[in-house]
Amino acid sequence: DWSVSSFIEEQVAAIRERVGDGRVLCALSGGVDSSVAAALVHRAVGDRLTCVFVNHGLLRQGEAEQVQKTFGQALQVNLVYVDASERFLTKLAGVTDPEEKRKIIGHEFIRVFEEEARKLGKVDFLVQGTLYPDVIESGTATAAVIKSHHNVGGLPEDMELELIEPLRLLFKDEVRRVGEELGLPEEIVWRQPFPGPGLAIRILGEVTPEKLGILRQADAIVTEEIRRAGLYREIWQSFAVLPSMKSVGVMGDERTYAYPIVVRAVTSDDAMTADWARLPYDLLERISSRIVNEVRHVNRVVYDITSKPPATIEWE
Ligand code: XMP
Repeated sequence: DWSVSSFIEEQVAAIRERVGDGRVLCALSGGVDSSVAAALVHRAVGDRLTCVFVNHGLLRQGEAEQVQKTFGQALQVNLVYVDASERFLTKLAGVTDPEEKRKIIGHEFIRVFEEEARKLGKVDFLVQGTLYPDVIESGTATAAVIKSHHNVGGLPEDMELELIEPLRLLFKDEVRRVGEELGLPEEIVWRQPFPGPGLAIRILGEVTPEKLGILRQADAIVTEEIRRAGLYREIWQSFAVLPSMKSVGVMGDERTYAYPIVVRAVTSDDAMTADWARLPYDLLERISSRIVNEVRHVNRVVYDITSKPPATIEWE
């Protein structure tokens, strides 16, 4: 039987041995895998580890604060927090094509991370939260292309970093148990997957600060109500999407012309296929009334009842 505490002990010893008096770098995303990998390496080498967290301005409400609180304060990790919001939003201004948006974000992310890494001077190792399913998948060309969007690949060769991948033999549920044992908070250990390009691919068309504000508020309501209903863990992903059109509504005796919010919630095992979640009507009702009452510029809420395939989980 696989034991969490002996796994941690063995990994800590092995990482310590391998790193010696070298220095280690980690790109934190706030997701389960990179967080658990970082916490594990931190337990092994302490201050020899520096984590870089790039806020691309496309995060959800409270997310950047959560990462700073957990890693900077609670775990006392050397954390470089980079607020690059302006930079990303400037690059994204006027861009409407989904793949173009992804490309810009991926590109810029690597550039910002690289700049920060160089400021740290000589670094020897890079931590990655690669899991066993990623290891298997990378065997095929398609998977490699898909993954290139997801992870921080493509660091410059002259940095010559050796990879530390302490989770490469684990499945997700085991990673979560390791995270809990290492004392990571529930919000991180049980976090639903969130795409690297963040809210940019949930705002259809151009990304603007105004639209980010609207989507953040609506999304926070969806998450809060799903949690309150006790469904957060069993649903694979649940979130809000902001389309780029407006529709007519009425409020008091005023006609409104405002955005709709799409609520998307799916069940899935691996994101390759997904089914729309049969959320209870009263939960949908609470989500809908809260969004139209609390979020300005929104006058309608719709629920996406499409499975994958033929739809994808994300709207872009
Ligand atoms: P789709 O929308 O293709 O998404 O059904 C499948 C899973 O992948 C996530 N996703 C991404 N993750 N970078 C990421 O890191 C991306 O560009 C990206 N696109 C989709 C999505 O949230 C879902 O879990």
